[in-house]
Amino acid sequence: MAVGVFDSGLGGLTVHAAIAARLPALPLVYFGDNAHTPYGVRDAEDIFQLTCKGVERLWEEGCDLVILACNTASAAALKRMQETWIPADKRVLGVFVPLIEALTERQWGDNTPPREVAVKHVALFATPATVSSRAFQRELAFRAIGVDVEAQPCGGVVDAIEQGDEILAEAMVRSHVEALRRRMPKPEAAILGCTHYPLMQHVFQDALGPDVKVYSQANLVAESLADYLERRPEFLGPGMVSKFLTTGDPKSVSSHATQFLRRGITFEAA
Ligand code: DGL
Repeated sequence: MAVGVFDSGLGGLTVHAAIAARLPALPLVYFGDNAHTPYGVRDAEDIFQLTCKGVERLWEEGCDLVILACNTASAAALKRMQETWIPADKRVLGVFVPLIEALTERQWGDNTPPREVAVKHVALFATPATVSSRAFQRELAFRAIGVDVEAQPCGGVVDAIEQGDEILAEAMVRSHVEALRRRMPKPEAAILGCTHYPLMQHVFQDALGPDVKVYSQANLVAESLADYLERRPEFLGPGMVSKFLTTGDPKSVSSHATQFLRRGITFEAA
């Protein structure tokens, strides 16, 4: 009954942790494509090929349902995967839809036509590839009308976090918030559209001020997965064993992961 969690590297561990807390009995197989991280600066074709390869590996582990924890993969590859590549007995779900459902105050899985919503000015912080895909705006337009989205490509933040350089990451977050504010002085809500940004959530909130509601994905994704599995239990795959797989060097990825999440995690070769 395992579910797969795919990410370009370590960032998806924030989503994995939230799913594990929400659904403690569910076996989870994590796949980190550390050999090819970061995805945020790659082109869409490259991201599509790499994501399909990782998802196939999770299917081999008996995970019929895979969550793309990576925003960049969700934004740049998921639509094409769903339209051209995923067989009928498998599911691949991204991280944008649960976030947008929360932002637009919809029930999980509500596919009724778009309508006016309370929030009108939304700031999106994400990787350059996610921003240039415009996937967030596309998904939002299916559900809400009259919402102005200003997107800020946050180059450098993922690298600084991966290197454990919190001072640099904080300085970069503050300068990206300032850049966005020059174009949208008063956002009502801010979306942290990258797996790594929850680790800097306090800095985003501080730089944006207390009036801006900051949406972070991990808990929303976990909640919507729990709801999805209740509605579609047939997508609980045959896998029974939880594990962490990486395309990188398992020893060094394990030690980075332990530092990243501040608890022991052991990866094995994918
Ligand atoms: N996991 C990616 C995301 O959420 C961030 C890291 C990367 O650029 O690969 O967009």
